[in-house]
Amino acid sequence: RIVPVILSGGSGSRLWPISRGSYPKQFWPLLTDKTLLQETALRGEGAGLSAPIVVCNAEHRFIIAEQLREVGIHDARIVLEPVARNSAPAIAAAAFLVAETDPDAVLWVMAADAAITDAGALGQALQSAVSAANDGLFVTFGMKPTRPETGYGYIERGEEIANLAHVYRVAKFVEKPSAADAETLVADGRHLWNSGMFVAQAKTLLAETQAHEPQVYENVRRAVAERQTDLDFERLGAAGFGAAPDISVDYAIAERTQRAAVVPGDFGWSDIGSWDALWELSPKDDDGNATYGDVFLDRARNCYVRSDGIVATVAGVEDLIVVVTQDAVMVSHRDRAQDVKHMVSRLRAAG
Ligand code: GDD
Ligand code: MG
Repeated sequence: RIVPVILSGGSGSRLWPISRGSYPKQFWPLLTDKTLLQETALRGEGAGLSAPIVVCNAEHRFIIAEQLREVGIHDARIVLEPVARNSAPAIAAAAFLVAETDPDAVLWVMAADAAITDAGALGQALQSAVSAANDGLFVTFGMKPTRPETGYGYIERGEEIANLAHVYRVAKFVEKPSAADAETLVADGRHLWNSGMFVAQAKTLLAETQAHEPQVYENVRRAVAERQTDLDFERLGAAGFGAAPDISVDYAIAERTQRAAVVPGDFGWSDIGSWDALWELSPKDDDGNATYGDVFLDRARNCYVRSDGIVATVAGVEDLIVVVTQDAVMVSHRDRAQDVKHMVSRLRAAG
């Protein structure tokens, strides 16, 4: 059995003013007419898997339930965190829940806010990953790096594993290297980017959590045991979950485990880390413009222009990002799209 697990915890500020704490980017339709959360949930549905488990901030429960219903998913388990403790406790909670009935089941952990454009290639990579997971491995997916990004994990590919097609040992996993290290890792050609998706049996995830982060293991176990049903939601116990250390699965398990494997894949993955990345991914007109909503262009080139509910006109400019919402407008050069994050923290500091 394969259980999709969707992590929806981020509050990404890099796609401001669309993405905000109360309504982060996974709840918006960015590339298709469906939201990233819906696309992610349908990925499991499309592969014929059982209903997903969504682990999320309690504040977002109704948005998530509604968005899943909209795409015909009625039997998801929506698991609410009393506080955010990063991805290691969130994944452990899903593993404990699945292990109650089926410790051998394989969890397919996905970020709610990434885009994948080649479902066929993903399906093949997933098959390899599941075979490896059934052998007790903790499986990552490796993408060919294209720039010295410091926000990602880097996987050094080891030997191919006998009897498992397209599955390699992980010689080393480095989460978020320094800029200098990232340069070296990209240049040597042996390293792959970690996609943030993981595949492993529930019992493997629990054993690795217990071995490397016993505090996460003990406290999340208690939070799951003390969970309460609230309408259609499962609310994790606050005392236990709150006592779990705040740590990501990359530091907690991926960097430390002896059981890591990697399936290299080329399935059009992007974590849509900036407006510029979204421009890259979006369909464009003959002048290289990507538009969304009530937008009119005149002699604009290579722009991303998006407007929700207000008419936006853009003329005679190149390489701009223009995003208009009901209460904010953001204009930036495409090369400066990463700076939106800093702008937002200055805005927040200014109150
Ligand atoms: N439920 C829940 N609770 N989910 C969370 C929490 C939390 O407290 N914190 C993070 N998540 C979810 C995010 O919503 C996202 O779906 C996923 O876990 C990854 O978290 P990010 O915060 O986006 O991680 P990152 O981007 O810094 O790094 C990860 O992803 C990269 C690729 O995008 C790592 O796995 C890197 O190694 C990887 O390269
Ligand atoms: Mg991310």
